[in-house]
Amino acid sequence: MTAKIIDGKAIAAEMREDVAKGVKELIAAGGTQPGLATVLVGGNPASHTYVRMKRKACAKAGIESFHHELPDDASQEEVEKLIQTLNADSKVHGILVQLPLPAGLDEEQILRSISIEKDVDGFHPVNIGRLAQKGREPLFVPCTPAGCMILLEKAGAQIEGANAVVVGRSNIVGMPAALLLVKANATTTICHSRTKDLPAVCREADILIAAIGRAEMIRGDWIKPGAYVIDVGMNRVDDPSRERGYRLTGDVAYDEAMEVAAAITPVPGGVGPMTIAGLLANTLRSAQRTLP
Ligand code: GUN
Repeated sequence: MTAKIIDGKAIAAEMREDVAKGVKELIAAGGTQPGLATVLVGGNPASHTYVRMKRKACAKAGIESFHHELPDDASQEEVEKLIQTLNADSKVHGILVQLPLPAGLDEEQILRSISIEKDVDGFHPVNIGRLAQKGREPLFVPCTPAGCMILLEKAGAQIEGANAVVVGRSNIVGMPAALLLVKANATTTICHSRTKDLPAVCREADILIAAIGRAEMIRGDWIKPGAYVIDVGMNRVDDPSRERGYRLTGDVAYDEAMEVAAAITPVPGGVGPMTIAGLLANTLRSAQRTLP
């Protein structure tokens, strides 16, 4: 079997076009231009790259972005004061605090200080709590896990009743992805560093979401024939044959998985583009709520 490649780049491009169209319609209907505030604390180079990409995507979709940078040694009060200002700013419909934050800052408290109406990352404890509860709906769902669900649906995976395995339990991806799968009626297992016999658990998965951050850890013989594999990993592996000296690889051994799975996301070009598309969609949705 050769797996179908789930083209996240193309699916995200479609979503971004829809958002751009939605922005135009919103403005034509008398609404305000959607605005996203990005908050970057400290000098983490990867975070700078991600925020730059997010702002560029906003500009392309017609969303205004308001960028704020604070130094590595910014205090808790400084960050929270900035968020209070953004909460009160009617031009700002979404607030994104790029994670991770420098050590010493209270991440939970900072995420909690974002208005839940502007929590386009879906990380506010109330939004996460609602995601975890039966019969409750969050105002926003975290963008990367939401992207994983869209990719599964687009690939034609049967989610209801499926055995889903999520490898990784991070607040940003693994845990909310598992909560979304449960909401979609999959029988869901969350694996982590203490899981016994991880390969055996993975082999039971009709749907496998890999979000561990370890290059090619999940091998082809861990994958159930016909499974849908979503690889959230984005790891740098030294590769002297490349001009830049490294290549990007996921958490799944792609070539091996291709032989077994029904469908799989590539890295790059799979889940990554969906995160940004989801953020734009959430920001538009937030701005749409302000229409009379
Ligand atoms: N760091 C890694 N992924 C994300 C994300 O989706 N949102 C934010 N705010 N920080 C991140």
